[in-house]
Amino acid sequence: MDAPQYVFGAQGFGATWVSGNIDRLMVALKDAGIQRFDTAALYPATNPGVSEKLLGEKKPENAIIDTKIMFIGDGSLSMKNIGKSINDSLDRLKIKKIHTLYAHAPDRTVPIAEQAAYFDHYYRLGLFENLGLSNYTPAMVREWMDVAVEKDFVMPSVYQGQYNATSPLAGGFLTGKLSYHPTLQSLEGTRFEVGEGNMVGALYRMWYDQPAFHDAMRELDNMAKEHDSTGAQFALRWLLFHSQLKSSDEVVIGPSHFEQLQCYLDARKAGPLPDNNAEKVNMLFPALRGLSKTIIEKGWWSL
Ligand SMILES: NC(=O)c1ccc[n+]([C@@H]2O[C@H](COP(=O)([O-])OP(=O)(O)OC[C@H]3O[C@@H](n4cnc5c(N)ncnc54)[C@H](OP(=O)(O)O)[C@@H]3O)[C@@H](O)[C@H]2O)c1
Repeated sequence: MDAPQYVFGAQGFGATWVSGNIDRLMVALKDAGIQRFDTAALYPATNPGVSEKLLGEKKPENAIIDTKIMFIGDGSLSMKNIGKSINDSLDRLKIKKIHTLYAHAPDRTVPIAEQAAYFDHYYRLGLFENLGLSNYTPAMVREWMDVAVEKDFVMPSVYQGQYNATSPLAGGFLTGKLSYHPTLQSLEGTRFEVGEGNMVGALYRMWYDQPAFHDAMRELDNMAKEHDSTGAQFALRWLLFHSQLKSSDEVVIGPSHFEQLQCYLDARKAGPLPDNNAEKVNMLFPALRGLSKTIIEKGWWSL
């Protein structure tokens, strides 16, 4: 059955994926038919640039690589920073053209009309094929598209939001690791580890560690258990086969280990959810609608 393709999210390159295990990962991805990678100049947040560098060294010949402009806070999307970021990325990735180049997050100090003009300039220099926007609100995307039509600029054609096409397991929340009596010890080494240096974990807790999300997670898990499955499998199968995503879309996955990679592959193989479970999953959303809106408004860039 047609379903969105997987893209490998390389946020963990330079963290859990390192020189010692990336070659084996590349073989596993080739076997799984995954040749597309999503990275960013900012990855990993603890050591920016290293993800692109490792990808440049270890990428397969036919790799398709998407990346994002370096996020430096205000001024990220100035003409100068965009140009520098693109050139640094091309050097680290050892490629001549980026497949999809994203604005990683909105820069509220640069008017959208100017951002659109700057990206158009580099597009016409032939430095990237597709323009992507990430973490922009729907109103911002609309404004950008209106400018692009009016001025004949390159049109944004790819979008990355927080949950869904990226973070399909909500950073691991949908495995239940935060909903079933987590302890500081059980969270050690995971995305949700509590510790001063773990900014990403703090963000994911801010978004998802809320009673209504835990209730929904436990309900999802109970539905899955009736079919000898898990909440994570049900979440992925719903996303792949029952959400608004089409076969021309992509889902960016972020396994930290080989066993986790298998979990994503199994879900794709398992196909649509059994019986009326897709509708049952849909029914979880109304109680979360208000909370989910805050995820796009309270993004990591606003910290
Ligand atoms: N544009 C943006 O701002 C943006 C934002 C987020 C993500 N992304 C992109 O999307 C990619 C994927 O995001 P993501 O890593 O958040 O995706 P995800 O698939 O929602 O979460 C991946 C995390 O879930 C946990 N996990 C996965 N399978 C598991 C299993 N079977 N059992 C237990 N835990 C499991 C792991 O966390 P542990 O390490 O804790 O085990 C893993 O790191 C990123 O690499 C990046 O390329 C982009």
